[in-house]
Amino acid sequence: MQTDTEKTQAACAPPQRSRESEAVAEGSFRLARGMAAMTGSRLRSLIGRAAGPGVISFAVGLPAAELFPCGELADAAAGLLPAEPRSLQYAVPLAILKEQIVELMAARGVACRPEQVFITSGAQQAVDLVARLLLDPGGEVLIEETVYEGALMALQRYSPAVLALPTDARRGLDVEAAAARLSSGARPAFLYAIPSGHNPLGVSLGSDRRRALVALARAHRLPILEDDAYGFLSYDGPAAAPLRALDDRWVIYLGSFSKILAPALRAGWIVAAEELMPRLSALKHAVDLDTPAFSHHLIAAFLAGGGLARHVARLRREYASRRDAMLAALADHFPSGVSWNRPTGGLFIWVELPRGMDATLLLEGALATEGVAFTPGEAFAAAGGGHNRHCFRLCFSATPAEQIDDGIRRLGRAVAAHLA
Ligand SMILES: Cc1ncc(COP(=O)(O)O)c(C=O)c1O
Repeated sequence: MQTDTEKTQAACAPPQRSRESEAVAEGSFRLARGMAAMTGSRLRSLIGRAAGPGVISFAVGLPAAELFPCGELADAAAGLLPAEPRSLQYAVPLAILKEQIVELMAARGVACRPEQVFITSGAQQAVDLVARLLLDPGGEVLIEETVYEGALMALQRYSPAVLALPTDARRGLDVEAAAARLSSGARPAFLYAIPSGHNPLGVSLGSDRRRALVALARAHRLPILEDDAYGFLSYDGPAAAPLRALDDRWVIYLGSFSKILAPALRAGWIVAAEELMPRLSALKHAVDLDTPAFSHHLIAAFLAGGGLARHVARLRREYASRRDAMLAALADHFPSGVSWNRPTGGLFIWVELPRGMDATLLLEGALATEGVAFTPGEAFAAAGGGHNRHCFRLCFSATPAEQIDDGIRRLGRAVAAHLA
C-alpha cells in the first residue's frame, strides 16, 4: 500500500500533459493532434500473448463464457427474427429497453425516468461520449492514479491535464485529495470514478467516501462519471447503492450489459440529466449513427422473460466461489512479503509485490516458465512514470475454480523465483 508521503506527492504532482499536443506523423501521414499517445492498448497486445496454448490466463477481465445464457438468448433470437424484421433495421433506441433499464436501476437503488436513460454501445462508448460532451482539448480531468485503461484511452485524444488522485486497493479513491485539488483552484471537466468493484483494484468505496464524493460534486458543481460496469456483481451481501442514488444532477451514471449478460452484445447505458440527451444523441449519431437494434431487441426479450435476475444471481454465486478459490490459493501458494486484497465485488484481485520488484519482468518469466499470465499494474497508471511497477491485477472470473489453484500454484513458483 502507499505511504502517506507518497500519497501527498501524487496529490500535489503537477498536472500531467502528454505529448499529444505535438504534431505527429505515421509514415508519410501527418496525424491529427492528440494521436501521439494513441499507440495501441497494452492490454490488447497482452491478450494475444496470454491466449497461447496451455497458458492459464488471469490477465484479461473477461466474464465466464461458459456461463453465458446461450440457450435463453438463442430462444429469444429465434422468436425475434421472423416476428420483428425491424430488429435488423436502422432504429431509434428501443423504448421498452429504456423502461427495463429504469427497473434495473431501481434494483440498484436509483430512481430515474426513461427520459434520463441514454442507450449506448457499451460503457466504453458512454465514457467516450461523455468526454466528447464535457472535455475541451487540454482540459483537466480528475481520475484515480490507478484506473481502467480503457477510460484513459477514451480521454487521451483530448490531451487532458490528468489530475491523478491517490487511491488504494483497500479503501479506494482518496476523496480528501480530490477536495484539496478543487480547493487549490483545479477546474476539471469531470471526475471519473469506479466506486463499485473497481477495475483494476477490486475495491468498493465505503458509504462515507460515497457521501463525501457526492457532497464535493455538489459544492463544486463537478460532474462525476460513475462507471458502474461491475455494480451488479457483489458477493458479500447487497451491493452499496451507486453515487447516482445520492445525487441525480451531478452524477452521470454509466451502466453495462457486458459483465451481467454478454459483452459481444455491445450494450450499455447512461443515466443523466434530461437536458443532456439531445447533445448525447447528436454525438452518438456522429460516431455510429444508431444503436445496434438487434442486440437491443434481444436484450429486451431476455429481460422481459425475467432471465436477468436469475442470471445475475448465478453469476454472483459462481464468481464468489472463484474469488474464494483464488484467495485460498494465494494464501496457500504465494511466498511471504506479497500482499493482496479481498474484493467484495467485481472481477479482480490486486496483488502487491515488495517495492522494487517489477511485475512486467515477472510476467515475462511467468509466461515463459510456468505458462501463466496476469496484467502488470503499470498498464493502469494514469500518469505513467513507472507507477504500480511492483503490482499486478488478477482476474478470477474467467477461470473455473478447479483450474485457479493450479494457475496460482504456478504463479506462486514464478513469484518465489523472481523474489529470489
Ligand atoms: C471499468 C470499466 N468500464 C467500462 C468497461 C467497458 O465496458 P463495455 O463492454 O460495456 O463497453 C470495462 C470493461 O472491462 C470496464 O472494466
